[in-house]
Amino acid sequence: MTSHLLAVHDLSKEAILALFKEAAELKAMRRRALSAQRLSGKTLGLFFEKPSTRTRVSFEAGMNQLGGQSIFLSVMDIQMRRGETVSDTAKVLSRYLDGLVIRCYEHHAVEEWARNAAIPVINGLTDLHHPCQVLADLFTIREKKRRWKGVKVAYVGDGNNVANSLIEGAAIMGMAISVACPHGYEPDAAIVEWAREHAERTGASIEVIRDPFVAVKGADVLYTDVWTSMGQEKEQARRLKVLAAYQLNGRLLAAARADAVVMHCLPAHRGQEITADVLDGPQSVVLDQAENRLHVQKAILTRLLRDR
Ligand code: CP
Ligand code: NVA
Repeated sequence: MTSHLLAVHDLSKEAILALFKEAAELKAMRRRALSAQRLSGKTLGLFFEKPSTRTRVSFEAGMNQLGGQSIFLSVMDIQMRRGETVSDTAKVLSRYLDGLVIRCYEHHAVEEWARNAAIPVINGLTDLHHPCQVLADLFTIREKKRRWKGVKVAYVGDGNNVANSLIEGAAIMGMAISVACPHGYEPDAAIVEWAREHAERTGASIEVIRDPFVAVKGADVLYTDVWTSMGQEKEQARRLKVLAAYQLNGRLLAAARADAVVMHCLPAHRGQEITADVLDGPQSVVLDQAENRLHVQKAILTRLLRDR
């Protein structure tokens, strides 16, 4: 595994499999003392410019369960708010901490943190990528479908950070992914191109289309995310209109395989990108997905922080 985790494409299939082996062991141990000393004496910093429930709490609780500590650094409280540079902050924090989780807007900002930090930097979501989410999602897909090869994922809605990371994950693990989105809301073109090239070697297939009903045909996994991501609030009215035909509802679910599972990274907006009956229905695995953030991130923390 590399010393930073900024995107899913930083990892090979072998690295992901090793990570998931560790995550499965940690999940089986739950909170038993066995896992408790792995990161004893280590401190993780979390610098977040955007709100978070799952990412913050699962990293903090995970660090705690591994015997380490965490310090939450809100953008409102540290000197960056008064103009201190990323580079100075990263260098100073590297003298105190053993790892950093960063949630920020532009992806190049997390890259700047990684360039300047002497400790591992983990991307806790940028406008372009959400790797920790998708690693937990890949782990969840294997739990539910027992495999990746031959699994078809349909992602319906906005081609955002989660869609981008999911496309990278599908390409690496050999899944078929069909993204249905309106014109102008496609996933990142460079990521799609990278994934298509990679797919040739792994047996994956990557499709970006318009019709959600075509995307979900034969799908084992239906995935959606919010229509308005953090930072896009001013575009909300237009997004609600343009994306209205991409709602994950009972009609769309009925067009997928009968045993399809429904995924959403959360937070969800019932009545917008997904209806309440589908999100809260028997095919939904969103809470398992959320739980797996904890186990997979404990494995990430162990691999990146333990032997430093
Ligand atoms: N899915 C996810 O990253 O949730 P939070 O924004 O609550 O961290
Ligand atoms: N696409 C969403 C994901 C939230 C976890 C956002 O960036 O706001």
